[in-house]
Amino acid sequence: MKSNLTHLSNEHTSVVIQTHPMPEILYWGAPLSGSVETLKLALQRPVPQARLDQDVPLSLLPELAKGQYGSPGLEGHRANKDWFASFTTVAVQEHASTLNFVCEDAIAKLSLTIHLELDESGVLSLSQTITNTNTSDQAYNVQRLALTLPIPRHIQELRHFRGRWTREFQTEVIDWRAHNFVQENRRGRTSHENFPGLIAGQRGHDEQQGEVYAVHLGWSGNHRIKADVKSDGRRLIQAEELLDAGEISLAAGESYSTPVLYASYSAKGLNALSQQFHAFVRQNILHFPVSAKRPVHLNTWEGIYFDHDPNYIIKMIEASAKMGVERFIIDDGWFVGRHDDKAALGDWQIDADKYPEGFTPIVDAIHANGMEFGLWVEPEMVNKESTLYRQHPEWMLSTQGYEQLSGRWQYLLDLQQQPVFDYLLDCLDKILSAYPITYLKWDMNRELLQSSHMGRAAVHGQTQAFYRLLEALRAKHPNVEVESCSSGGGRIDYGVLQRTQRFWTSDNNDALERQIIQKGMSYFFPPEVMGSHIGPAHCHTTMRRHAISFRGITALFGHMGVELDPLAVDEQERQAFSHYIALHKQWRDLLHSGLSYRVELPDEQSQAQVVVAIDQQQALVAVAQLAMPAYAIAEVLRIPGLQAQQIYRLSVLDQPENLPHIMKQLPLWMSEGLTISGEQLEKAGLQLPVLDPETALLFSLEAIN
Ligand code: DGJ
Repeated sequence: MKSNLTHLSNEHTSVVIQTHPMPEILYWGAPLSGSVETLKLALQRPVPQARLDQDVPLSLLPELAKGQYGSPGLEGHRANKDWFASFTTVAVQEHASTLNFVCEDAIAKLSLTIHLELDESGVLSLSQTITNTNTSDQAYNVQRLALTLPIPRHIQELRHFRGRWTREFQTEVIDWRAHNFVQENRRGRTSHENFPGLIAGQRGHDEQQGEVYAVHLGWSGNHRIKADVKSDGRRLIQAEELLDAGEISLAAGESYSTPVLYASYSAKGLNALSQQFHAFVRQNILHFPVSAKRPVHLNTWEGIYFDHDPNYIIKMIEASAKMGVERFIIDDGWFVGRHDDKAALGDWQIDADKYPEGFTPIVDAIHANGMEFGLWVEPEMVNKESTLYRQHPEWMLSTQGYEQLSGRWQYLLDLQQQPVFDYLLDCLDKILSAYPITYLKWDMNRELLQSSHMGRAAVHGQTQAFYRLLEALRAKHPNVEVESCSSGGGRIDYGVLQRTQRFWTSDNNDALERQIIQKGMSYFFPPEVMGSHIGPAHCHTTMRRHAISFRGITALFGHMGVELDPLAVDEQERQAFSHYIALHKQWRDLLHSGLSYRVELPDEQSQAQVVVAIDQQQALVAVAQLAMPAYAIAEVLRIPGLQAQQIYRLSVLDQPENLPHIMKQLPLWMSEGLTISGEQLEKAGLQLPVLDPETALLFSLEAIN
C-alpha cells in the first residue's frame, strides 16, 4: 500500500506529515533519521470516552465538521449556506523540499491548496489558497482562513511582542500551561502594538538551550494570532489575516490566498532559532539592488525638522561628510507647502520657495562630498490642506456618508482606485528620475479606520495595493533601496521586507530604550535591516541624556546612522560621532553577515550581545548595563559561538569614560590584555568590570594563528 506519510527534513528539523484524509503534521521537531513509517503506529491517538466515536485530526486546516470545535481554520458561507466545509486530500505534489496538498469539498464546492516548504535555513513556510469552484453566480464569503501548526505538549511557555509608538518589540514571557493566548491587530498596518510573531518554548528554555518554536506572519495588514491549549491537551498556534465582514468575497473560480506563515524550530534555544530566521531573511526575503555595503546615514529629521534651507543643508552635508557619513537623507519638509505636519501630503513636488533651484545644489554638494542622496516620502497619505485633496476629495480612503477621523492631521488615499495608484507611481517615478536618489524612506504615519473601497472593507485590498505600488516603483527603479518606516516601527514584517531593504526600527533613539527594542526585534530580524541612529545627547522622545559611548555602542549593532544637525553640536561631539561611524564601518561586514547571539546575564539589569563571524575568526561583543547593577561584583560573561580550540586576542574597543570611579581595581585583562581560547571564554567566561547604569562596554575577539 502506498505510504501516506511524507517527510521534510534537513539538519535543523524534521516535519512528518500524514497526507490523508487531510494533511496533518504528526511530528515537527529535531531531525529524525531513517524511516518514519513507525510514527504512524507510535503516535496513533486513543479515542477517549464521552466524545466523538472517532479520532479528531488536528490537520493543517482544523475542521469544525470533523470535530475541531475550538479552532477551525476556515469560516465562511455562500449566501448563508455552505457554512462549513469538510475537505479531503485529492493530490499531493512533492518537489524537493516543497509540498502542495490539493484538497476538495465537492459538496461545498471549495478547493484548498496548502503549500508547505522547508528552507535549508530550517525555516518552514506555510500558506493556503481557497478557491470557489461553484459555477453559480453566488459568491463564497471568506470570514477566516487560518494557518495552523501543532506544537508539542511539552512546550509550555509563550514569548510575545507588544508595544506602542516609541516602544516597539517589548518582549513578554507568559505561562502557556492551560491558558489560551490571542492577539488581534485591526490597525490596518503591522502595528507597533502587536508584532505578528510568537515564540513557544519548553519551560525554562533560554537563549542557549531548550526546545523552541517560533512563527511570524509576513503581512502588513490586520492579523490574529492564537495559541490554544485544547481540552484534549493538544496545542497549536494559529495565524491569519484578520478579515473584516464581507472583505473577501469569491465569485465563481476566484481565489483568496493567505499571507505566508514563517516558522522555525530549534532544539538549542532562542539564539539558534533567530539565526535560522536571520539566514532565511538574508537568503530569501531580502532583495538587494546592489550588493554593496550598507552606507552610514545622516537623516535630517531630528536635526532640522521642517526648517529646510538649502544653504544651511549644504553646510550640514559638508559637516556630515567630514564625520564619515555616506548617505545624506532629506526627511519630511521638502515638498510644496510642507511647513509643519498639518498640510501638503499628496503634493509631491519640490517646494520652490525652500528649494528655488530644486535639489540640484543639494545633489551637487552630496556628490562633491562623496555621498549618496536619500529622500523621505509618505505616498499613501493626503492632508485636507493640499492641492491634491482640493482636486480629488474622492481619492480619500473612507466610507461614504461617515466623517473620516484624522490622524496626525492626515488621511489615507484609496490605493485601489487606479487613478490614485497611477498618480502616486507617477509622482515617485518623476522625482526618482529627476534626481540620483539611491534610497527612499517610505513613511506611513497613521492607522486605517472605516476604510472602504466602493463601500466594502478595504484593509486587505489596500495592503496588497501598497505592495503593488512598491513593486511597480522598484521595477522602474531597481537600484533604489527603500526603508519601511511607519512612525518608527509600525510596519515591520517579512511581507514588506520582501519589497524593501531596511526598517526604521523606532522613533525612539534613546539608547536605553533602544537596547530593549532592538533586542526584541532581533528574535526575527538580522542587524542589517534594523535602522539604528545615534541621536543628539538628549533624546527627543524621552528627554533622557546619555553619554555618546552608550549611544554609539547601541547604534553600532544595526544599520547605523546619525539623526542630528551636525552643525548644532561642538567639535568634540562631532569627533565622537566620527569615532562611532568609523567603528561601524570597520565592523559592519561582520555585523551584517555574522551569527548574532543574545547573552543572558544573571543580573537582569544588564544584557550582552555577540556577533561572531561565520568563519569564527572574529567576534564583536557589547555589554550594556541598563540599570543599577544587582551585585557589587559584576557578572562573568560566558561568550557563545566561538571555536573551542581557537585562541583569540581580546581588545577593548570602547568603554565608559568614568569607568574607574566605581572600582578600586579594574579586572586585570582590561589593562594587561588577554589571549584565551574559545572554549574557556564559553565555559569559564570573562569577569566583567562594574558598569554604571546606562553605560556600555565594547570589545573584539580576533583569532590568532
Ligand atoms: C515619522 C518617522 O518615523 C520619523 O522618522 C520622521 O520621518 C517623521 N515621520 C517625519 O514626519
